[in-house]
Amino acid sequence: MKTIQSIAIDKDRIQNLAAQARAAIPPVGAQKEKLVARIKELLKEKNAVLLAHYYVDEDLQVLADETGGCVSDSLEMARFGHDHPAATIVVAGVRFMGETAKILNPEKRVLMPSLEAECSLDLSCNAEVFRRFCDRHPDRTSVVYANTSAEVKACADWVVTSSIGTRIVAHLQAKGEKILWAPDRYLGAYIQKVTGADMLLWPGYCVVHDAFKADALLRLRKKYPAAAVLVHPESPMEVIDQADAVGSTTQLIRAVTKLPHELFIVATDHGIFHKMRQAAPQKRFIEAPLGGTGASCLSCAHCPWMATNGLVNLAHTLETGENEVLVDPEVGRRAMVPVRRMLDFARRIKTRATGEANIASPA
Ligand code: 13P
Ligand code: SF4
Repeated sequence: MKTIQSIAIDKDRIQNLAAQARAAIPPVGAQKEKLVARIKELLKEKNAVLLAHYYVDEDLQVLADETGGCVSDSLEMARFGHDHPAATIVVAGVRFMGETAKILNPEKRVLMPSLEAECSLDLSCNAEVFRRFCDRHPDRTSVVYANTSAEVKACADWVVTSSIGTRIVAHLQAKGEKILWAPDRYLGAYIQKVTGADMLLWPGYCVVHDAFKADALLRLRKKYPAAAVLVHPESPMEVIDQADAVGSTTQLIRAVTKLPHELFIVATDHGIFHKMRQAAPQKRFIEAPLGGTGASCLSCAHCPWMATNGLVNLAHTLETGENEVLVDPEVGRRAMVPVRRMLDFARRIKTRATGEANIASPA
């Protein structure tokens, strides 16, 4: 594994921005009911569809489901928004998800409850630095994670999400291509391990998944020996190595029904528990342990930027049209090429492309 040594990630800046993210305050009781009813009206009035990521507040996930939108991982969000006839797409997630929707649907209006919803991976990959780096490695195919800006995508040969990254890199490796991977070092290292591809890794990281601790996980597994461990591949390798299943958010939810276990230790954002409980109401889920001050709080696995999405700012964006996601048309045109490449690849391999988690064989 080759991590790019010359790229320095400004960890302090990223941690400060994460700490500054303002979590939405959920309304309660009659106020909540009124707001939900108004949002449902507005979605119809404005010919809009709501896409929600699994990490956002449960209220938003329920609304997306009840109004014919979708709750999914980042790949399915991109595809669903692309295929849906609504004139306006409302993305409850983080900015790169809104930008991907805009890249794929330049003629549609894309709104977000909060434009402050960053992602530490996106923040760790400056487009100009990335472009210069690609120029220095013309012999490598550049593959970027969807968690990047439109400008970074516009410089890349391929865009991938965690649900399809391994398949795409294996395909490129089979053609003898060497990879320049950005920005998540852990996902890159995991894909490198699974495929054996020659990959140069950008050293970015996710503030949430980086905080999962392998030694504490080992102790928790001893306490709950019957539990299965589910891990998102943005986590450190020593955490991934302890997993019974590794995969994207959708793949981890599927693993909950596929594996026979009754108890799961989950190393990803706890927003996913809503869908896991729906998928297997009789099973139990506990958070994998975090060892530090990585995310928005000391003791919870929750993305500080996903938490900026709430019912109040969702209603506001629909009511006013504020918080529109805009992508420079030329950048969008160039970024569409590698994003489309991913969606076409997914179609070609004839899978819903969210696929299955990588389930470890019993020892
Ligand atoms: P998924 O594509 O697995 O939903 O991951 C997106 C993400 O940001 C995870 O932190
Ligand atoms: Fe980005 Fe991590 Fe938040 Fe996902 S959980 S959006 S990778 S900061």
